Amino acid sequence: MALREILIIGHPILTEKAEPVAVIDEEIVRLARDMVETVHAAPGLGLAAPQVGAGKRIIVVDLSVGQDTEALHVLVNPEIAAKEGESVCEEGCLSVPEVREKVARPYRVKVRGLDLEGRPVEVEGEDLLARVLCHEIDHLDGILFVEKLSALKRALIKKKFKKAAADAKKA
Ligand code: NI
Repeated sequence: MALREILIIGHPILTEKAEPVAVIDEEIVRLARDMVETVHAAPGLGLAAPQVGAGKRIIVVDLSVGQDTEALHVLVNPEIAAKEGESVCEEGCLSVPEVREKVARPYRVKVRGLDLEGRPVEVEGEDLLARVLCHEIDHLDGILFVEKLSALKRALIKKKFKKAAADAKKA
């Protein structure tokens, strides 16, 4: 397994729709395992394949950050099958470092997808788990959480990272 670089807001892959995984081959398994290692090392609660530069519909979610194997969900081609309620809470994203803003998400979701053996799996989550599942699935559609903020807040955040990227290029 290997750590992968996490792309930062402004990278075009982050705003593209990811492709469904047609065959779960060795490369996909390696990608998913690298994503698990990368999100644990970050540390973060979830990661979507586009964040490491792969336009594939794969997410990993682990609220325990590596402490509890039962809490780790690796989902291929995940889809929200049902959602209920609403919760407004602060969230952040490894691709938008040091920014936390309040975002409305469903309180409870049921997500269907495949595991790395290609077996159908269903994950039901509420509160934080529902939030992270929705956040990661949004990434697969090229949607960052900043898209859910006011136009003003979004513009300020994008400006901040544009300046950071320009400064990094100069250095
Ligand atoms: Ni994110």
